[in-house]
Amino acid sequence: MAIEELFAGHVTLPQMFSDRTAWNLESNPLSKALAERIASGKPIIDLTESNPTKCAFQVETEQILGALSNPASVHYDPIPQGLLPARNAVVDYYRARGCTLNVDDISLTTSTSEAYSFLFRTLCNPGDELLIPQPGYPLFNFLADIQDVTTVRYPLIYDYGWQIDFHALQRAITPRTRGIIVVNPNNPTGHFCKAEDLHRLNQMCLEGDLALVADEVFLDFSLGKDITPTFACNNKALTFTMSGLSKISGLPQMKVAWVVATGPEALKQQALARLEMIADTYLSMNTPTQLALPVLLELRHNFQRQCAERTRNNLAQLDKLLSTQKLCARLNLEGGWYAIIKMPVTGSDEEFALELLNTHGVYVHPGHFYDFAADGYLVVSLITPELPFAAGMQTLVTLIDERFRKGS
Ligand SMILES: Cc1ncc(COP(=O)(O)O)c(C=O)c1O
Repeated sequence: MAIEELFAGHVTLPQMFSDRTAWNLESNPLSKALAERIASGKPIIDLTESNPTKCAFQVETEQILGALSNPASVHYDPIPQGLLPARNAVVDYYRARGCTLNVDDISLTTSTSEAYSFLFRTLCNPGDELLIPQPGYPLFNFLADIQDVTTVRYPLIYDYGWQIDFHALQRAITPRTRGIIVVNPNNPTGHFCKAEDLHRLNQMCLEGDLALVADEVFLDFSLGKDITPTFACNNKALTFTMSGLSKISGLPQMKVAWVVATGPEALKQQALARLEMIADTYLSMNTPTQLALPVLLELRHNFQRQCAERTRNNLAQLDKLLSTQKLCARLNLEGGWYAIIKMPVTGSDEEFALELLNTHGVYVHPGHFYDFAADGYLVVSLITPELPFAAGMQTLVTLIDERFRKGS
């Protein structure tokens, strides 16, 4: 029975709920318009799709299902940090990137979201602060709310490429700050952390007794040829590096991720003991996916090959299209699954996205979805299949041109 029916006749609901869940759950005009468009059965070109299982990639179904049917799965051996063969597979993943890890420094979680929650619980008292990049990943605020943690943004600035505004980051640190979150490469800006950035982040963390939290779910998706360095080898400040199958192997449905703790030994051991206790309380990892992890990680090569081809083709198509006009441009990116389109500000980004969806059936994310500080930005997914991507982008560029002419 719906809560409204339960209390039918009452003017207001009794105060049964926590403040931390007092979100405004009304859908915004864009999600309402999307739901209406889907219900109407009219066609949609979705340029936001970043669920890899919905992007027409070729999947190794037999190998995946075979890996999940290991007879050993009928036994239950609850290990809070995760089964050893699974954690060894994570060690192998990092070894292939030139980073040697100790298997005891790895804890498995059911998603990076769960890893974030465990870390927030480990590091923060209610009201403590964590620094997050802006623009950035939209889920941070919800993850923080649920754990009673406050997020404080630090700006990323664009000057032919994205970089951290270190002065602003320094100013954002208060006595309540417990850590700096870095997404490497960042979603949606697609820029990697450089050696000099890591050096400065280490300094700040050591000076302020802060932890470094690095989300590397997109680490393997670099547009360059070199292997990009991972935070999992950072031993200077206390560092937690997260990743998982969701992006690496394009298998979000498997719910397997991990967090690697590195840094000064005594601090690291404290962190690992506390994380282990949290993990022991939930024991949320299931046995079949842990036993399948070595195979599921190995399948990343096939997925990443396809993903790289898709991303490159879509970028080439996009650049060709943008070269025919002067109103919009795409911002430089180094990796990840997203492209940011900079367009003239003729209204709010949300208004533009609504018009594009309602009149042409093309769905994009306005910049504010990723917490852009100003209007004039749209974000599109580069793993969208090539044909709809090309058609959707053509429509988008044409609409920007029409609106600009009308406005000028
Ligand atoms: C930066 C970032 N971290 C984490 C995730 C989610 O990963 P998981 O499925 O492991 O929770 C996403 C998903 O889009 C993401 O963009």
